[in-house]
Amino acid sequence: RQQHRVQHGPCSYTFILPEVNHCQPLNDLKVSNTFQRDSPQASTDEQKLESLESAMENNTQWLQKLENFIQENVRSGMEEMKRTAVHTQTAAMLEMGTNLLTQSAEQTRKLTNVETQVLNQTSRLEIQVLEYSLLTNRLEKHILQQTQEISRLGDKNSFLEQRLSALEARYGKELQELESEKEQLQKLVERQSQTVSQLQAEVGSSMHNSTLMQRQQAMLMNTVQQLLATVNNCKEISSVASGDLLTFRDCAEILQSGVTDSGVYTIRLPNSTQTVKVFCDMKTGGGGWTVLQHRRNGSVDFHRGWRDYKMGFGELSGEHWLGNDIIHKLTTSKDYSLHILLKDREGNEAFSNYDRFYINGEENNYSLYTENYSGTAGRMSSLAHSGTQFSTKDRDNDRCTCRCAQLASGGWWFEACGPSNLNGIYYSSSTSTMRYNDIKWYYWKGSKLMAAMTTMMVRPTNF
Ligand SMILES: *[C@@H]1O[C@H](CO)[C@@H](O)[C@H](O)[C@H]1NC(C)=O
Ligand SMILES: *[C@@H]1O[C@H](CO)[C@@H](O)[C@H](O)[C@H]1NC(C)=O
Ligand SMILES: *[C@@H]1O[C@H](CO)[C@@H](O)[C@H](O)[C@H]1NC(C)=O
Ligand SMILES: *[C@@H]1O[C@H](CO)[C@@H](O)[C@H](O)[C@H]1NC(C)=O
Ligand SMILES: *[C@@H]1O[C@H](CO)[C@@H](O)[C@H](O)[C@H]1NC(C)=O
Ligand SMILES: *[C@@H]1O[C@H](CO)[C@@H](O)[C@H](O)[C@H]1NC(C)=O
Ligand SMILES: *[C@@H]1O[C@H](CO)[C@@H](O)[C@H](O)[C@H]1NC(C)=O
Repeated sequence: RQQHRVQHGPCSYTFILPEVNHCQPLNDLKVSNTFQRDSPQASTDEQKLESLESAMENNTQWLQKLENFIQENVRSGMEEMKRTAVHTQTAAMLEMGTNLLTQSAEQTRKLTNVETQVLNQTSRLEIQVLEYSLLTNRLEKHILQQTQEISRLGDKNSFLEQRLSALEARYGKELQELESEKEQLQKLVERQSQTVSQLQAEVGSSMHNSTLMQRQQAMLMNTVQQLLATVNNCKEISSVASGDLLTFRDCAEILQSGVTDSGVYTIRLPNSTQTVKVFCDMKTGGGGWTVLQHRRNGSVDFHRGWRDYKMGFGELSGEHWLGNDIIHKLTTSKDYSLHILLKDREGNEAFSNYDRFYINGEENNYSLYTENYSGTAGRMSSLAHSGTQFSTKDRDNDRCTCRCAQLASGGWWFEACGPSNLNGIYYSSSTSTMRYNDIKWYYWKGSKLMAAMTTMMVRPTNF
């Protein structure tokens, strides 16, 4: 028997079932089996029992089916379980195997890598070894070549040494000779250079000498030129020795040196290097006169300004005024006498003489000084008083409110305006009309003098 318990809601049912194998299947579905009821109550109602029995039968069948199903299920589950277990194990085993395989593959790969590397290294080393051997070979070849070269050079060197020694032997003597010659030449050169330096010194001194000579030559040229100038001067004094020329201070000294011809000569003003050309009268009264003024034919205009009278004008050999500066320097260097010579149209001559005569410098307007008048041209002096200043048309220093130099014409020592003016107008023809501006020497012929010639000249008082 088999017991089966079924739970249905709050009730549970327990079924005790016979073995299937010992039972014959019932066609009418009547249950012959005796069974114990759980509750002793329902006994009377047969229908109920029958339905119960069928239900029971239905249940039994169902249960059988169920059992069959369950058995089948259990079997298949067991098989499944068994299979699953085998499967699981196999999978684990497989997994392990796979793992192992994987690990071994990894190891193999690593090993392969290492092997590859080793192989790589080995091959590289081999390559290097090969290269080294190649290099070594090349070096050996090179060394061999070098050795050969060296041996060749050694051969050549020895050959050259041999030749050199031969040459040394050959030229040794010549060399010695040459050295001795060279020493001789050096000595010669030293001597030559000494000579050269001596010559240079001589050249230097001769250069110096030549510059000295040039300077002397220049000085000589200078002297020659001076001499030439002197000679030129001397031509004017034909009969005088040229050497003493420049020492004459006036015509008296020239006369005393032996010159007796009247003419133009050069004198040197006292206390100066200034030379002046003057006309010397060597005839009148013993000669030696230095001419200050001369009129003879009216060729020179005497109506001039201050500066002309200061510097002098005209021709020395003809009409001229020597110049107030020269007259001042000459007549103040020592005592001079003044001699005035006059000639009229009829040929009458007269003179006025002053034992002492000089004029002051420009700063005193050339004021004049005279002393001791004598002569034939008037009982008394026609010259202005001492102290009278010189006047020209442009410098009025007279004692007149007029301008005497303008009225009377010419430069002169005018007072107001005074009895004389030898620098007036030179009228060439005579006339009866009175003129105020012609040449005048009042105390000889009054205002009627028609002068043909006038001369003012000085000579040292002690001549
Ligand atoms: C037995 O079961 C079948 C199906 O389940 C049902 O049709 C039948 O009525 C049942 N018999 C009884 C007596 O319950
Ligand atoms: C060796 O390995 C280097 C890198 O490590 C690679 O460049 C070279 O090609 C390899 N040589 C060989 C012969 O495999
Ligand atoms: C240079 O002049 C001096 C004297 O003036 C003389 O002794 C010397 O020999 C001169 N030199 C030459 C190179 O003429
Ligand atoms: C004046 O005399 C000088 C000197 O003798 C002379 O050269 C000049 O020609 C004369 N002049 C006149 C106008 O006669
Ligand atoms: C010339 O010089 C001397 C001395 O230097 C002097 O005594 C004399 O007065 C001077 N004469 C004139 C005219 O200047
Ligand atoms: C002026 O004349 C007097 C008398 O004759 C004389 O003594 C004097 O020396 C003269 N003066 C000059 C400078 O000649
Ligand atoms: C000279 O003359 C000028 C005018 O021409 C005058 O000014 C001056 O004072 C004069 N000199 C003397 C010293 O009289």
